[in-house]
Amino acid sequence: MPYDLSGQCAFVSGASSGLGRRFALVLAQAGAKVAIAARRADRLRELRREIEGFDGRAIPIALDVQDAASVREAVAQAETELGAITILVNNAGIAIPKPFLETEEADWDAIVGTNLKGAWLLAKEVANHMARLGHGGSIINVASIISDRVIGHNAVYGAAKAGIVHLTRAMANELARHQIRVNAISPGYITTEMTQGFIESGEAENIRKRIPLRRLGAPEDLDGALLLLASEASSFMTGSVITVDGGQSVNPL
Ligand SMILES: NC(=O)c1ccc[n+]([C@@H]2O[C@H](COP(=O)([O-])OP(=O)(O)OC[C@H]3O[C@@H](n4cnc5c(N)ncnc54)[C@H](OP(=O)(O)O)[C@@H]3O)[C@@H](O)[C@H]2O)c1
Repeated sequence: MPYDLSGQCAFVSGASSGLGRRFALVLAQAGAKVAIAARRADRLRELRREIEGFDGRAIPIALDVQDAASVREAVAQAETELGAITILVNNAGIAIPKPFLETEEADWDAIVGTNLKGAWLLAKEVANHMARLGHGGSIINVASIISDRVIGHNAVYGAAKAGIVHLTRAMANELARHQIRVNAISPGYITTEMTQGFIESGEAENIRKRIPLRRLGAPEDLDGALLLLASEASSFMTGSVITVDGGQSVNPL
């Protein structure tokens, strides 16, 4: 079973909705014990019930990735209750679409603080545990095709995601000596709460026409990339960025 994660302990940030919720379910179905972390505790409790419904193991953990103390406490709680973390899915993120000239310092702080600083804080905390315990592991960062393409009204978000791609490569280089692999998934348009407003605005139809596979993605379209990167099937991969976008980034202008 190349994607069997029995005996593994995963930590998923932003597990209360969208991609993170799906990532947690898929890792639990593959046999991993999963720490499901976010700010909305009610959503996490509901997800735990769903995972326990198929005899999986999950614990909800309160986490604000912008707060270093919260990150430290969340990782400590996960390790105390589930055991040493061997898989981190660094997924928590927000977007605040706005024309560049209207972006405010508070937008920058929230977007960069969550998507980039938050991911750095959590990766550093988990990687330190992995390195100290010496068991290695897999860190999966969640980037975006916007990390190297421009779309309107998302300059700060794109800059933060470009930072995630760089962080992924730099971490892969430095952490390989600890047997910690670091890769990223770079999704295109996936239907979640983050993209709901945009989809309801009718803009999605224009985007769909520019995607060679002619549809937006669903969270389950990322299952394959997730299981590949989380499992030993990717044991010789580190510093890679896997694009999952229906071909949108190879569509000629
Ligand atoms: N959907 C797409 O098309 C798409 C494309 C490319 C990349 N992405 C990336 O995929 C990731 C997941 O996005 P999504 O589409 O699933 O959006 P979503 O449904 O809005 O989920 C975002 C998740 O992040 C969590 N989060 C936000 N701020 C947080 C904080 N300060 N501390 C802890 N958790 C926080 C939210 O939980 P709480 O609010 O409960 O804390 C929620 O669980 C993000 O990094 C996003 O940038 C999405």
